[in-house]
Amino acid sequence: MREHAIAAIPADGIGPEVISAGLEVLNTLSRKMGAFRLNVQTFPWGSDYYKKHGFMMPPNGLDLLRPFAAIYFGAVGAPDVPDHITLWGLRLAICQGFDQYVNLRPTRILRGLASPLRACKPGDLDWAIVRENSEGEYAGHGGRAHRGLPEEVATETSIFTRSGVTRIMRFAFQLAQKRPRKLLTVVTKSNAQRHGMVLWDEIAAEVAKEFPDVAWDKMLVDAMTTRMVGKPASIDTVVATNLHADILTDLAAALAGSLGIAPTANLDPLRRFPSMFEPIHGAAFDITGKGIANPIGAFWTAALMLEHLGETDASVRLMEAIETVTASGIHTPDLGGRATTREVTSAVCDAF
Ligand code: IPM
Ligand code: MG
Repeated sequence: MREHAIAAIPADGIGPEVISAGLEVLNTLSRKMGAFRLNVQTFPWGSDYYKKHGFMMPPNGLDLLRPFAAIYFGAVGAPDVPDHITLWGLRLAICQGFDQYVNLRPTRILRGLASPLRACKPGDLDWAIVRENSEGEYAGHGGRAHRGLPEEVATETSIFTRSGVTRIMRFAFQLAQKRPRKLLTVVTKSNAQRHGMVLWDEIAAEVAKEFPDVAWDKMLVDAMTTRMVGKPASIDTVVATNLHADILTDLAAALAGSLGIAPTANLDPLRRFPSMFEPIHGAAFDITGKGIANPIGAFWTAALMLEHLGETDASVRLMEAIETVTASGIHTPDLGGRATTREVTSAVCDAF
């Protein structure tokens, strides 16, 4: 029996609801397959923990997580704690501390779901968006001076390093090469941002030479939004900076049907540290505790985690079960249905 140690961090908002649903589905799958077992340890970190202890996770949090094969993460954010504290105290602290430099966000229209785009058929939208996850606009470089005075100043400097850009480009080209269409779009803004983004473009062109079989194009981020809406079938694999891809992946999720279904893998491709898997949707206070959060994002995320753990069969079976349920019309309210988190979870467990 293969065993994998998983650290679960359900954290805030609907995080605990969808992570417990995800663990139930994973445990059912592992029981039915009998090929692997997940040893899950749950960490009570997040905004409530912050209100008691003054930090989102203990100072030795990364040391506690290091031995695990993967981290299964819910969401962070609370109405009464500033967002930059919750984010930098937990999620970004883990992403950056473990150098999870790839944020991979696959998007497609699952069976039984529809895009809000009238002309978009399911096969027209099948994207893998690669988000640079260690630097760029989220580098945390900057500061404030002269607080409260009329001359107060704040800077937020984007950082683009040759090594950082090269490794994300290589990952994106390799991923594009593995996908049937071998097509990569490099998103940029080098018309306006003439330093970092020009380096980004130059390195894209350099790395492209290592992948002569991958067709690639370059697209300004603003034009990319209109292409995603107007010509979704012209897109396959995409690579973009931390902030650009943050925005594009929300758009992508909405175009595929709902923010509630979209998954994320924060990867250290070199496997020096655990990678972290989380649904894209966030804390969603408006529906917290109502039992109607869509657990599909957490399930699809779990499928990415299984793939990372080498449990490819299990990952495929989980995606199959998810799509059996989406196709059967058992949908939570974000997808226009009336099903609860519980009902969707039971239906996926029954579909194995
Ligand atoms: C995401 C989220 C986060 C981000 C938020 C919660 C800060 O929007 O994972 O896309 O911007 O990275
Ligand atoms: Mg986002």
